[in-house]
Amino acid sequence: MMSVIINDPIRQPMQSLDIAKGVFAGAGIIVSSKNIGQLQYMFLDEKARQQMDQEQQVYRVQANLPVDEGTAGGLFMGTTWIKAGAVGNEFFMTQGHFHQLASRGEYYWGLEGNGVLLLMDEDRNTRAEYVYPGSLHYIPAYTAHRVANIGNTELSFGACWPSDAGHNYDEIKERGFSKRLINHNGIPTLINA
Ligand code: PA5
Ligand code: MN
Repeated sequence: MMSVIINDPIRQPMQSLDIAKGVFAGAGIIVSSKNIGQLQYMFLDEKARQQMDQEQQVYRVQANLPVDEGTAGGLFMGTTWIKAGAVGNEFFMTQGHFHQLASRGEYYWGLEGNGVLLLMDEDRNTRAEYVYPGSLHYIPAYTAHRVANIGNTELSFGACWPSDAGHNYDEIKERGFSKRLINHNGIPTLINA
């Protein structure tokens, strides 16, 4: 009979993921959030934003960053939860960004709720895709991305991106996307910004 030599132990992973809800647990998971007060001039109706509760959360992110930001060849993974709500008639949404290393792409996938992903290329052409449980979105290189919650319940989506991608918010902060997503008589509608 062959003898078995017990060598290295088989270990438990350091982290876990609730794949339906996108909730990470374990070592090194980071969280961040954005409230109304932190999103100056992002929405068309800035006056309406100023009149809202500045502490009201718009979205939060949980991310698993196993290597340092900027490391070539690694991968990051996260989940974003966007509350249901609007500023004026514009749906709650993420800030949106190009990647610092603009040649890097990303995957997003819908978990719960209903949303719209805005994708804008470097010539500022914007297109949009519905986000829903099970929807999968390939975000190409050189493409800014933002998600809006168009439903009455929280929207959540997963993301996976290269660890050297980084986030570049400059152009979006200065000029926004070329299209905005508004609630027009109850219908999510893309309008030119
Ligand atoms: O890396 C991503 O693209 C996401 O994890 C986003 O950072 C997240 O959805 C929050 O959006 P933003 O970074 O545009 O505020
Ligand atoms: Mn990104």
